[in-house]
Amino acid sequence: MIYKRYLQNFDTKKDDVVIFDVVIIGTGIAGMYTALNIDKRIKVAIITKKTIQNSNTAIAQGGIAVPIGNDDSPDIHYMDTIKAGSGLCNSKMAKILVSEALINIEMLIKMGVPFDLDDENKIVLGQEGAHTKKRILHAGGDATGRIISEHLGAKLKLAENITIFENTFLVDIITIGHAAVGVLLKQKGKKFILFSKYIVLASGGYGYIYKYTTNPEVTTGDGCAAAIRCGAKVVDMEFVQFHPTVLFHPMNNSFLISEAVRGEGGILYNSKGERFMSNYHHLAELAPRDIVARSIFFEMQKTNSKNVFLDVTHLDKEFIKRRFPNIYSKCIKIGLDITKERIPVAPAQHYSMGGVLSDENGKTTVENLFVCGEAAGTMVHGANRLASNSLLEGLVFGRRIAQFINNHQLGSLKIISIGYKEERGNDNLNIISEAELLREKMSFQAGIIRINGDLRNLLDFIINRIDYLKNKKLQNLKEIEFYNMLTVGYTIVQAALMREESRGSHYRYDFPQQDDINWKKHLIFSLNGWEVIDKNA
Ligand code: SIN
Repeated sequence: MIYKRYLQNFDTKKDDVVIFDVVIIGTGIAGMYTALNIDKRIKVAIITKKTIQNSNTAIAQGGIAVPIGNDDSPDIHYMDTIKAGSGLCNSKMAKILVSEALINIEMLIKMGVPFDLDDENKIVLGQEGAHTKKRILHAGGDATGRIISEHLGAKLKLAENITIFENTFLVDIITIGHAAVGVLLKQKGKKFILFSKYIVLASGGYGYIYKYTTNPEVTTGDGCAAAIRCGAKVVDMEFVQFHPTVLFHPMNNSFLISEAVRGEGGILYNSKGERFMSNYHHLAELAPRDIVARSIFFEMQKTNSKNVFLDVTHLDKEFIKRRFPNIYSKCIKIGLDITKERIPVAPAQHYSMGGVLSDENGKTTVENLFVCGEAAGTMVHGANRLASNSLLEGLVFGRRIAQFINNHQLGSLKIISIGYKEERGNDNLNIISEAELLREKMSFQAGIIRINGDLRNLLDFIINRIDYLKNKKLQNLKEIEFYNMLTVGYTIVQAALMREESRGSHYRYDFPQQDDINWKKHLIFSLNGWEVIDKNA
Protein backbone atom coordinates (compact mmCIF):
# COMPACT_ATOMS: atom_id res chain seq x y z
CA MET A 1 0.00 0.00 0.00
CA ILE A 2 1.30 3.41 -0.86
CA TYR A 3 -0.67 4.99 1.97
CA LYS A 4 0.97 2.84 4.62
CA ARG A 5 4.19 4.51 3.63
CA TYR A 6 2.59 7.93 4.08
CA LEU A 7 0.55 7.43 7.15
CA GLN A 8 2.19 7.65 10.53
CA ASN A 9 1.49 9.99 13.42
CA PHE A 10 -1.46 11.48 11.58
CA ASP A 11 -3.45 13.61 13.97
CA THR A 12 -7.10 12.91 13.22
CA LYS A 13 -8.24 15.83 15.38
CA LYS A 14 -6.64 18.34 13.07
CA ASP A 15 -8.13 19.80 9.92
CA ASP A 16 -6.62 17.33 7.50
CA VAL A 17 -9.36 14.78 8.17
CA VAL A 18 -12.88 15.37 6.87
CA ILE A 19 -15.80 12.99 7.15
CA PHE A 20 -18.42 12.38 4.46
CA ASP A 21 -21.11 9.73 4.17
CA VAL A 22 -20.07 8.82 0.64
CA VAL A 23 -16.95 9.56 -1.36
CA ILE A 24 -17.17 9.11 -5.13
CA ILE A 25 -14.01 9.01 -7.22
CA GLY A 26 -14.56 10.22 -10.77
CA THR A 27 -16.85 12.62 -12.63
CA GLY A 28 -17.73 10.71 -15.78
CA ILE A 29 -21.35 9.71 -16.30
CA ALA A 30 -21.12 6.93 -13.68
CA GLY A 31 -19.77 9.13 -10.88
CA MET A 32 -22.00 12.14 -11.52
CA TYR A 33 -25.16 10.11 -12.01
CA THR A 34 -24.50 8.05 -8.85
CA ALA A 35 -24.00 11.25 -6.86
CA LEU A 36 -27.22 12.78 -8.21
CA ASN A 37 -29.23 9.66 -7.34
CA ILE A 38 -28.13 9.65 -3.71
CA ASP A 39 -30.65 11.10 -1.22
CA LYS A 40 -30.20 14.78 -0.45
CA ARG A 41 -29.81 14.03 3.27
CA ILE A 42 -26.58 12.14 2.56
CA LYS A 43 -23.31 14.07 2.48
CA VAL A 44 -21.36 13.24 -0.67
CA ALA A 45 -17.86 14.19 -1.80
CA ILE A 46 -17.02 13.76 -5.48
CA ILE A 47 -13.38 13.76 -6.47
CA THR A 48 -11.85 14.36 -9.88
CA LYS A 49 -8.26 14.36 -11.01
CA LYS A 50 -8.67 17.46 -13.19
CA THR A 51 -11.99 19.24 -13.73
CA ILE A 52 -15.45 17.70 -13.69
CA GLN A 53 -15.58 17.93 -17.49
CA ASN A 54 -12.39 15.96 -17.94
CA SER A 55 -13.49 12.39 -18.57
CA ASN A 56 -14.08 9.79 -21.24
CA THR A 57 -17.79 10.59 -20.99
CA ALA A 58 -17.21 14.19 -22.01
CA ILE A 59 -15.68 13.09 -25.32
CA ALA A 60 -18.07 10.20 -26.04
CA GLN A 61 -19.64 10.62 -29.46
CA GLY A 62 -21.77 7.58 -30.19
CA GLY A 63 -24.57 7.68 -27.66
CA ILE A 64 -26.57 5.41 -25.41
CA ALA A 65 -28.09 2.13 -26.55
CA VAL A 66 -31.72 1.83 -25.43
CA PRO A 67 -34.24 -0.67 -26.90
CA ILE A 68 -37.15 1.71 -27.46
CA GLY A 69 -37.80 1.37 -31.22
CA ASN A 70 -41.17 -0.08 -32.31
CA ASP A 71 -39.46 -3.21 -33.61
CA ASP A 72 -37.07 -3.50 -30.64
CA SER A 73 -37.17 -4.97 -27.12
CA PRO A 74 -34.85 -5.55 -24.14
CA ASP A 75 -34.62 -9.21 -25.26
CA ILE A 76 -33.29 -8.25 -28.69
CA HIS A 77 -30.84 -5.79 -27.13
CA TYR A 78 -29.80 -8.57 -24.71
CA MET A 79 -29.16 -10.99 -27.61
CA ASP A 80 -27.02 -8.39 -29.45
CA THR A 81 -25.03 -7.71 -26.25
CA ILE A 82 -24.43 -11.44 -25.66
CA LYS A 83 -23.42 -12.05 -29.26
CA ALA A 84 -20.91 -9.21 -29.32
CA GLY A 85 -19.50 -10.46 -25.99
CA SER A 86 -18.30 -13.72 -27.63
CA GLY A 87 -19.72 -16.10 -25.05
CA LEU A 88 -18.41 -14.38 -21.93
CA CYS A 89 -21.14 -11.92 -20.93
CA ASN A 90 -22.60 -12.53 -17.51
CA SER A 91 -26.25 -13.23 -18.35
CA LYS A 92 -27.71 -11.84 -15.15
CA MET A 93 -25.81 -8.56 -15.49
CA ALA A 94 -26.65 -8.25 -19.19
CA LYS A 95 -30.35 -8.72 -18.43
CA ILE A 96 -30.20 -6.00 -15.79
CA LEU A 97 -28.41 -3.70 -18.24
CA VAL A 98 -31.02 -3.93 -20.98
CA SER A 99 -34.10 -4.09 -18.76
CA GLU A 100 -33.16 -0.98 -16.76
CA ALA A 101 -32.10 1.05 -19.80
CA LEU A 102 -35.42 2.81 -20.31
CA ILE A 103 -35.98 3.95 -16.73
CA ASN A 104 -32.55 5.51 -16.60
CA ILE A 105 -33.03 7.31 -19.89
CA GLU A 106 -36.31 8.67 -18.59
CA MET A 107 -34.43 9.96 -15.57
CA LEU A 108 -31.80 11.61 -17.76
CA ILE A 109 -34.55 13.26 -19.78
CA LYS A 110 -36.14 14.49 -16.53
CA MET A 111 -32.76 15.91 -15.58
CA GLY A 112 -32.95 17.94 -18.80
CA VAL A 113 -30.63 16.05 -21.15
CA PRO A 114 -31.79 17.04 -24.66
CA PHE A 115 -31.57 13.91 -26.80
CA ASP A 116 -31.88 14.62 -30.52
CA LEU A 117 -35.47 14.65 -31.81
CA ASP A 118 -36.90 14.37 -35.30
CA ASP A 119 -39.42 16.75 -36.93
CA GLU A 120 -42.24 14.99 -35.07
CA ASN A 121 -40.51 15.44 -31.72
CA LYS A 122 -39.66 11.75 -31.48
CA ILE A 123 -36.24 10.63 -30.24
CA VAL A 124 -33.94 9.87 -33.19
CA LEU A 125 -32.48 6.38 -33.05
CA GLY A 126 -29.09 5.76 -34.66
CA GLN A 127 -27.47 2.54 -35.89
CA GLU A 128 -24.08 1.19 -34.77
CA GLY A 129 -22.01 -1.94 -35.36
CA ALA A 130 -23.44 -5.31 -34.21
CA HIS A 131 -26.82 -3.81 -33.23
CA THR A 132 -29.62 -5.51 -35.14
CA LYS A 133 -31.92 -2.54 -34.52
CA LYS A 134 -31.65 1.22 -34.54
CA ARG A 135 -31.40 2.04 -30.83
CA ILE A 136 -28.67 4.62 -30.24
CA LEU A 137 -29.85 7.85 -28.61
CA HIS A 138 -27.60 10.80 -29.23
CA ALA A 139 -27.45 14.47 -28.34
CA GLY A 140 -26.00 17.32 -30.38
CA GLY A 141 -25.40 14.81 -33.21
CA ASP A 142 -22.03 13.41 -32.18
CA ALA A 143 -21.57 15.46 -28.98
CA THR A 144 -23.63 13.16 -26.75
CA GLY A 145 -21.02 12.77 -24.00
CA ARG A 146 -20.26 16.48 -23.74
CA ILE A 147 -23.92 17.41 -23.50
CA ILE A 148 -24.66 14.80 -20.82
CA SER A 149 -21.53 15.74 -18.92
CA GLU A 150 -22.40 19.46 -18.96
CA HIS A 151 -25.98 18.82 -17.82
CA LEU A 152 -25.04 16.51 -14.98
CA GLY A 153 -22.12 18.76 -14.03
CA ALA A 154 -24.44 21.75 -13.70
CA LYS A 155 -26.78 19.73 -11.47
CA LEU A 156 -23.87 18.56 -9.35
CA LYS A 157 -22.80 22.14 -8.71
CA LEU A 158 -26.29 23.05 -7.52
CA ALA A 159 -26.69 20.08 -5.17
CA GLU A 160 -26.27 21.23 -1.58
CA ASN A 161 -25.33 17.79 -0.27
CA ILE A 162 -22.49 17.35 -2.78
CA THR A 163 -19.00 18.81 -2.43
CA ILE A 164 -16.81 18.75 -5.54
CA PHE A 165 -13.04 18.36 -5.23
CA GLU A 166 -11.36 19.16 -8.55
CA ASN A 167 -7.64 18.71 -9.30
CA THR A 168 -7.56 16.09 -6.58
CA PHE A 169 -5.72 12.84 -7.03
CA LEU A 170 -6.60 9.51 -5.42
CA VAL A 171 -3.44 8.15 -3.83
CA ASP A 172 -4.95 5.20 -2.01
CA ILE A 173 -8.05 3.67 -0.50
CA ILE A 174 -7.72 3.29 3.25
CA THR A 175 -8.95 0.08 4.81
CA ILE A 176 -9.38 -1.25 8.30
CA GLY A 177 -9.54 -5.02 8.32
CA HIS A 178 -11.53 -5.90 5.21
CA ALA A 179 -13.49 -2.64 5.02
CA ALA A 180 -12.76 0.54 3.11
CA VAL A 181 -13.03 3.56 5.43
CA GLY A 182 -11.62 6.45 3.49
CA VAL A 183 -9.34 7.77 0.78
CA LEU A 184 -5.96 9.41 0.85
CA LEU A 185 -5.95 12.30 -1.61
CA LYS A 186 -3.46 14.76 -2.93
CA GLN A 187 -4.36 18.29 -4.00
CA LYS A 188 -1.73 20.87 -5.01
CA GLY A 189 1.01 19.02 -3.17
CA LYS A 190 -1.06 18.73 0.03
CA LYS A 191 -2.22 15.31 1.15
CA PHE A 192 -5.42 14.85 3.09
CA ILE A 193 -7.86 12.15 4.02
CA LEU A 194 -11.61 11.89 3.55
CA PHE A 195 -13.20 9.28 5.74
CA SER A 196 -16.55 7.92 4.68
CA LYS A 197 -18.97 5.09 5.21
CA TYR A 198 -19.06 4.22 1.50
CA ILE A 199 -16.54 4.73 -1.25
CA VAL A 200 -17.60 4.53 -4.89
CA LEU A 201 -14.97 4.13 -7.57
CA ALA A 202 -16.17 5.64 -10.83
CA SER A 203 -12.68 6.45 -11.92
CA GLY A 204 -12.97 5.27 -15.53
CA GLY A 205 -10.68 3.04 -17.52
CA TYR A 206 -6.96 2.83 -18.15
CA GLY A 207 -6.65 3.66 -21.83
CA TYR A 208 -3.71 5.98 -21.37
CA ILE A 209 -1.41 3.08 -20.62
CA TYR A 210 -1.58 2.59 -24.41
CA LYS A 211 0.30 4.93 -26.73
CA TYR A 212 -2.53 4.91 -29.29
CA THR A 213 -5.80 5.57 -27.50
CA THR A 214 -8.92 7.70 -27.73
CA ASN A 215 -8.80 8.20 -23.95
CA PRO A 216 -7.63 11.40 -22.23
CA GLU A 217 -4.38 11.63 -20.23
CA VAL A 218 -6.18 11.20 -16.92
CA THR A 219 -6.97 7.53 -17.63
CA THR A 220 -3.95 5.96 -15.98
CA GLY A 221 -5.94 3.33 -14.07
CA ASP A 222 -5.54 5.01 -10.67
CA GLY A 223 -8.84 3.70 -9.26
CA CYS A 224 -8.24 0.17 -10.43
CA ALA A 225 -4.66 0.10 -9.09
CA ALA A 226 -5.72 1.57 -5.72
CA ALA A 227 -8.49 -1.05 -5.52
CA ILE A 228 -5.98 -3.83 -6.13
CA ARG A 229 -3.69 -2.42 -3.42
CA CYS A 230 -6.52 -2.40 -0.90
CA GLY A 231 -7.35 -6.04 -1.58
CA ALA A 232 -10.12 -5.87 -4.22
CA LYS A 233 -10.37 -8.40 -7.03
CA VAL A 234 -10.18 -7.41 -10.70
CA VAL A 235 -11.54 -9.43 -13.60
CA ASP A 236 -11.34 -9.73 -17.42
CA MET A 237 -8.30 -7.49 -17.64
CA GLU A 238 -7.11 -9.07 -20.90
CA PHE A 239 -10.17 -7.75 -22.72
CA VAL A 240 -9.15 -4.34 -24.01
CA GLN A 241 -11.28 -2.89 -26.78
CA PHE A 242 -9.67 -1.27 -29.81
CA HIS A 243 -11.88 1.12 -31.74
CA PRO A 244 -11.59 0.49 -35.49
CA THR A 245 -11.74 4.06 -36.70
CA VAL A 246 -9.58 6.62 -34.95
CA LEU A 247 -8.32 9.58 -36.98
CA PHE A 248 -4.81 8.89 -38.27
CA HIS A 249 -3.37 12.24 -39.21
CA PRO A 250 -0.04 13.93 -38.44
CA MET A 251 -1.95 16.57 -36.45
CA ASN A 252 -4.16 14.18 -34.52
CA ASN A 253 -4.13 10.42 -33.97
CA SER A 254 -6.41 10.08 -30.97
CA PHE A 255 -9.67 11.63 -32.18
CA LEU A 256 -12.52 9.15 -32.53
CA ILE A 257 -14.46 8.86 -35.77
CA SER A 258 -17.64 7.43 -34.31
CA GLU A 259 -18.99 4.03 -35.22
CA ALA A 260 -22.20 5.95 -36.00
CA VAL A 261 -20.43 7.21 -39.14
CA ARG A 262 -20.42 3.63 -40.43
CA GLY A 263 -23.95 3.29 -39.05
CA GLU A 264 -25.02 6.11 -41.38
CA GLY A 265 -23.36 4.47 -44.40
CA GLY A 266 -19.62 5.20 -44.11
CA ILE A 267 -17.50 2.74 -46.13
CA LEU A 268 -13.99 1.46 -45.39
CA TYR A 269 -11.32 1.27 -48.11
CA ASN A 270 -7.73 0.08 -47.86
CA SER A 271 -4.84 2.20 -49.11
CA LYS A 272 -5.21 0.61 -52.58
CA GLY A 273 -8.77 1.93 -52.74
CA GLU A 274 -10.36 -1.52 -52.30
CA ARG A 275 -13.45 -2.02 -50.17
CA PHE A 276 -12.62 -4.97 -47.88
CA MET A 277 -14.98 -5.46 -44.93
CA SER A 278 -17.31 -7.88 -46.70
CA ASN A 279 -14.33 -10.23 -47.12
CA TYR A 280 -14.22 -10.57 -43.34
CA HIS A 281 -17.85 -10.50 -42.13
CA HIS A 282 -21.35 -10.61 -43.60
CA LEU A 283 -22.25 -7.39 -41.75
CA ALA A 284 -19.32 -5.68 -43.51
CA GLU A 285 -18.69 -2.21 -41.98
CA LEU A 286 -21.26 -2.96 -39.27
CA ALA A 287 -19.61 -6.14 -37.99
CA PRO A 288 -18.76 -6.27 -34.26
CA ARG A 289 -16.07 -3.80 -33.31
CA ASP A 290 -13.33 -6.35 -32.60
CA ILE A 291 -13.76 -7.87 -36.04
CA VAL A 292 -13.67 -4.51 -37.83
CA ALA A 293 -10.57 -3.45 -35.85
CA ARG A 294 -8.71 -6.69 -36.65
CA SER A 295 -9.75 -6.62 -40.31
CA ILE A 296 -8.38 -3.09 -40.64
CA PHE A 297 -5.18 -4.20 -38.94
CA PHE A 298 -4.79 -7.10 -41.41
CA GLU A 299 -5.48 -4.81 -44.39
CA MET A 300 -2.87 -2.36 -43.11
CA GLN A 301 -0.36 -5.21 -42.88
CA LYS A 302 -1.30 -6.56 -46.31
CA THR A 303 -0.90 -3.20 -48.00
CA ASN A 304 2.01 -2.12 -45.79
CA SER A 305 0.15 1.02 -44.72
CA LYS A 306 -0.30 2.83 -41.44
CA ASN A 307 -4.00 3.44 -41.99
CA VAL A 308 -7.09 2.73 -44.07
CA PHE A 309 -9.78 5.22 -45.15
CA LEU A 310 -13.36 5.85 -44.12
CA ASP A 311 -15.47 7.39 -46.85
CA VAL A 312 -18.64 9.44 -46.41
CA THR A 313 -18.30 11.57 -49.53
CA HIS A 314 -21.27 9.75 -51.12
CA LEU A 315 -23.60 10.94 -48.32
CA ASP A 316 -25.50 14.22 -48.38
CA LYS A 317 -23.16 17.03 -47.32
CA GLU A 318 -25.70 18.89 -45.21
CA PHE A 319 -26.68 15.66 -43.47
CA ILE A 320 -23.03 14.97 -42.56
CA LYS A 321 -22.60 18.45 -41.12
CA ARG A 322 -25.83 18.18 -39.13
CA ARG A 323 -25.36 14.61 -37.90
CA PHE A 324 -21.64 14.83 -37.15
CA PRO A 325 -20.93 18.50 -36.37
CA ASN A 326 -18.15 17.66 -33.94
CA ILE A 327 -16.30 15.31 -36.32
CA TYR A 328 -16.83 17.65 -39.28
CA SER A 329 -15.44 20.70 -37.49
CA LYS A 330 -12.54 18.82 -35.87
CA CYS A 331 -11.47 17.53 -39.29
CA ILE A 332 -11.93 20.94 -40.96
CA LYS A 333 -9.53 22.38 -38.32
CA ILE A 334 -6.79 20.05 -39.54
CA GLY A 335 -7.53 20.81 -43.18
CA LEU A 336 -9.68 17.77 -43.97
CA ASP A 337 -13.14 18.28 -45.46
CA ILE A 338 -14.86 14.94 -44.85
CA THR A 339 -17.68 15.80 -47.26
CA LYS A 340 -15.05 15.82 -50.05
CA GLU A 341 -12.18 13.60 -48.90
CA ARG A 342 -11.81 10.16 -47.35
CA ILE A 343 -10.83 10.13 -43.67
CA PRO A 344 -7.53 8.38 -42.80
CA VAL A 345 -8.24 6.07 -39.83
CA ALA A 346 -6.52 3.32 -37.84
CA PRO A 347 -7.55 1.29 -34.77
CA ALA A 348 -6.57 2.51 -31.29
CA GLN A 349 -7.30 1.50 -27.71
CA HIS A 350 -10.74 2.74 -26.71
CA TYR A 351 -12.29 0.92 -23.76
CA SER A 352 -11.50 -1.51 -20.95
CA MET A 353 -13.98 -4.36 -20.55
CA GLY A 354 -12.19 -5.55 -17.41
CA GLY A 355 -12.09 -3.79 -14.07
CA VAL A 356 -12.80 -4.10 -10.37
CA LEU A 357 -15.01 -7.14 -9.81
CA SER A 358 -18.50 -6.13 -8.77
CA ASP A 359 -21.94 -7.60 -8.20
CA GLU A 360 -25.28 -6.32 -9.46
CA ASN A 361 -25.30 -3.57 -6.83
CA GLY A 362 -21.79 -2.42 -7.62
CA LYS A 363 -20.31 -4.04 -4.50
CA THR A 364 -16.68 -5.04 -4.81
CA THR A 365 -14.97 -7.75 -2.79
CA VAL A 366 -13.88 -5.12 -0.22
CA GLU A 367 -16.56 -4.12 2.28
CA ASN A 368 -18.06 -0.64 1.71
CA LEU A 369 -16.17 -0.21 -1.57
CA PHE A 370 -18.36 0.08 -4.68
CA VAL A 371 -17.50 0.47 -8.33
CA CYS A 372 -19.38 1.50 -11.49
CA GLY A 373 -18.78 2.61 -15.06
CA GLU A 374 -15.68 1.66 -16.99
CA ALA A 375 -13.72 1.04 -13.77
CA ALA A 376 -16.07 -1.84 -12.95
CA GLY A 377 -15.66 -5.48 -13.85
CA THR A 378 -19.36 -6.33 -14.11
CA MET A 379 -18.67 -8.96 -16.81
CA VAL A 380 -21.64 -7.44 -18.64
CA HIS A 381 -19.65 -6.86 -21.83
CA GLY A 382 -17.95 -10.24 -21.94
CA ALA A 383 -14.97 -10.28 -24.29
CA ASN A 384 -16.17 -7.39 -26.45
CA ARG A 385 -18.48 -4.52 -25.56
CA LEU A 386 -21.38 -3.75 -27.85
CA ALA A 387 -21.16 -0.14 -29.06
CA SER A 388 -22.91 2.46 -26.91
CA ASN A 389 -23.50 0.05 -24.02
CA SER A 390 -20.88 1.81 -21.88
CA LEU A 391 -22.67 5.05 -20.97
CA LEU A 392 -25.68 2.83 -20.30
CA GLU A 393 -23.66 0.64 -17.92
CA GLY A 394 -22.58 3.74 -15.98
CA LEU A 395 -26.21 4.81 -15.58
CA VAL A 396 -27.71 1.43 -14.69
CA PHE A 397 -25.16 0.31 -12.13
CA GLY A 398 -24.54 3.84 -10.80
CA ARG A 399 -28.22 4.16 -9.93
CA ARG A 400 -28.21 0.72 -8.32
CA ILE A 401 -25.33 1.77 -6.05
CA ALA A 402 -27.16 4.97 -5.11
CA GLN A 403 -30.31 2.97 -4.32
CA PHE A 404 -28.34 0.55 -2.15
CA ILE A 405 -26.77 3.43 -0.23
CA ASN A 406 -30.12 5.21 0.15
CA ASN A 407 -31.66 2.06 1.60
CA HIS A 408 -28.96 1.33 4.14
CA GLN A 409 -28.27 2.94 7.47
CA LEU A 410 -25.15 5.01 7.30
CA GLY A 411 -24.25 4.46 10.98
CA SER A 412 -21.36 6.24 12.58
CA LEU A 413 -17.86 5.91 11.32
CA LYS A 414 -15.05 4.77 13.55
CA ILE A 415 -12.07 7.02 12.98
CA ILE A 416 -8.71 5.58 13.86
CA SER A 417 -5.51 7.39 14.37
CA ILE A 418 -3.30 6.80 11.39
CA GLY A 419 -0.05 8.35 10.44
CA TYR A 420 1.17 10.77 7.86
CA LYS A 421 4.79 11.30 6.92
CA GLU A 422 6.42 13.19 4.07
CA GLU A 423 8.48 10.90 1.90
CA ARG A 424 11.44 11.17 -0.39
CA GLY A 425 10.82 10.54 -4.05
CA ASN A 426 12.33 7.84 -6.21
CA ASP A 427 15.62 9.15 -7.53
CA ASN A 428 16.81 6.93 -10.34
CA LEU A 429 14.11 6.18 -12.90
CA ASN A 430 13.19 8.80 -15.47
CA ILE A 431 9.47 8.35 -14.92
CA ILE A 432 8.25 10.35 -17.93
CA SER A 433 10.28 8.42 -20.48
CA GLU A 434 9.64 5.10 -18.73
CA ALA A 435 5.89 5.75 -18.87
CA GLU A 436 6.12 6.56 -22.58
CA LEU A 437 8.09 3.37 -23.15
CA LEU A 438 5.46 1.37 -21.29
CA ARG A 439 2.68 2.95 -23.40
CA GLU A 440 4.49 2.15 -26.61
CA LYS A 441 5.12 -1.44 -25.56
CA MET A 442 1.50 -1.88 -24.50
CA SER A 443 0.33 -0.73 -27.94
CA PHE A 444 2.71 -2.97 -29.85
CA GLN A 445 3.03 -6.00 -27.57
CA ALA A 446 -0.37 -6.19 -25.87
CA GLY A 447 -2.45 -4.60 -28.61
CA ILE A 448 -4.83 -5.91 -31.26
CA ILE A 449 -2.68 -8.93 -32.08
CA ARG A 450 -0.84 -10.66 -29.23
CA ILE A 451 1.73 -13.43 -29.15
CA ASN A 452 3.49 -15.28 -26.36
CA GLY A 453 7.03 -13.91 -26.97
CA ASP A 454 5.93 -10.25 -27.03
CA LEU A 455 3.72 -10.65 -23.99
CA ARG A 456 6.54 -12.31 -22.02
CA ASN A 457 8.97 -9.60 -22.97
CA LEU A 458 6.50 -6.94 -21.86
CA LEU A 459 5.72 -8.77 -18.65
CA ASP A 460 9.44 -8.86 -17.77
CA PHE A 461 9.69 -5.12 -18.42
CA ILE A 462 6.72 -4.45 -16.13
CA ILE A 463 7.80 -6.78 -13.33
CA ASN A 464 11.29 -5.32 -13.40
CA ARG A 465 9.91 -1.77 -12.91
CA ILE A 466 7.44 -2.86 -10.24
CA ASP A 467 10.23 -4.60 -8.33
CA TYR A 468 12.33 -1.47 -8.49
CA LEU A 469 9.56 0.88 -7.40
CA LYS A 470 7.66 -1.21 -4.90
CA ASN A 471 9.87 -0.33 -1.95
CA LYS A 472 10.55 3.21 -3.05
CA LYS A 473 8.74 6.09 -1.49
CA LEU A 474 6.44 7.35 -4.19
CA GLN A 475 5.88 10.99 -3.65
CA ASN A 476 5.36 12.74 -6.88
CA LEU A 477 2.14 12.39 -8.82
CA LYS A 478 3.81 11.10 -11.97
CA GLU A 479 5.53 8.38 -9.95
CA ILE A 480 2.27 7.22 -8.45
CA GLU A 481 0.56 7.33 -11.86
CA PHE A 482 3.40 5.30 -13.37
CA TYR A 483 3.14 2.76 -10.54
CA ASN A 484 -0.60 2.54 -11.20
CA MET A 485 0.00 2.04 -14.92
CA LEU A 486 2.46 -0.75 -14.14
CA THR A 487 0.00 -2.39 -11.74
CA VAL A 488 -2.82 -2.38 -14.27
CA GLY A 489 -0.45 -3.26 -17.12
CA TYR A 490 0.73 -6.29 -15.17
CA THR A 491 -2.82 -7.63 -14.85
CA ILE A 492 -3.59 -7.06 -18.56
CA VAL A 493 -0.42 -8.69 -19.81
CA GLN A 494 -0.42 -11.61 -17.39
CA ALA A 495 -4.08 -12.37 -18.16
CA ALA A 496 -3.40 -12.08 -21.91
CA LEU A 497 -0.58 -14.61 -21.53
CA MET A 498 -2.73 -17.01 -19.52
CA ARG A 499 -5.67 -16.92 -21.95
CA GLU A 500 -4.36 -19.25 -24.64
CA GLU A 501 -7.19 -18.74 -27.12
CA SER A 502 -8.69 -15.88 -29.13
CA ARG A 503 -12.01 -14.43 -28.03
CA GLY A 504 -13.62 -11.06 -28.67
CA SER A 505 -11.09 -8.28 -28.31
CA HIS A 506 -8.33 -10.68 -27.18
CA TYR A 507 -6.60 -12.12 -30.24
CA ARG A 508 -3.62 -14.47 -29.84
CA TYR A 509 -1.72 -14.99 -33.08
CA ASP A 510 -0.40 -18.26 -31.63
CA PHE A 511 -3.88 -19.41 -30.49
CA PRO A 512 -6.21 -18.00 -33.17
CA GLN A 513 -9.27 -20.15 -32.35
CA GLN A 514 -11.92 -19.54 -29.73
CA ASP A 515 -11.69 -22.47 -27.30
CA ASP A 516 -15.08 -22.89 -25.61
CA ILE A 517 -14.11 -26.17 -23.99
CA ASN A 518 -11.27 -24.75 -21.92
CA TRP A 519 -11.80 -21.01 -21.87
CA LYS A 520 -15.44 -20.11 -21.15
CA LYS A 521 -13.89 -18.67 -18.03
CA HIS A 522 -12.95 -15.42 -16.36
CA LEU A 523 -9.52 -14.64 -14.98
CA ILE A 524 -9.55 -12.85 -11.64
CA PHE A 525 -6.57 -11.21 -9.96
CA SER A 526 -6.04 -9.98 -6.42
CA LEU A 527 -3.10 -9.64 -4.05
CA ASN A 528 -3.63 -13.34 -3.27
CA GLY A 529 -2.85 -14.28 -6.89
CA TRP A 530 -4.86 -15.53 -9.87
CA GLU A 531 -8.14 -17.45 -9.90
CA VAL A 532 -9.96 -18.93 -12.86
CA ILE A 533 -13.75 -19.08 -12.56
CA ASP A 534 -16.38 -20.49 -14.90
CA LYS A 535 -18.65 -18.11 -16.78
CA ASN A 536 -21.67 -17.16 -14.63
CA ALA A 537 -20.13 -18.92 -11.60
C1 SIN B 1 -18.39 5.48 -31.10
O1 SIN B 1 -18.99 6.53 -31.20
O2 SIN B 1 -18.00 4.81 -32.05
C2 SIN B 1 -18.05 4.98 -29.74
C3 SIN B 1 -19.23 4.49 -29.06
C4 SIN B 1 -18.83 3.52 -28.02
O3 SIN B 1 -17.65 3.39 -27.70
O4 SIN B 1 -19.70 2.80 -27.54
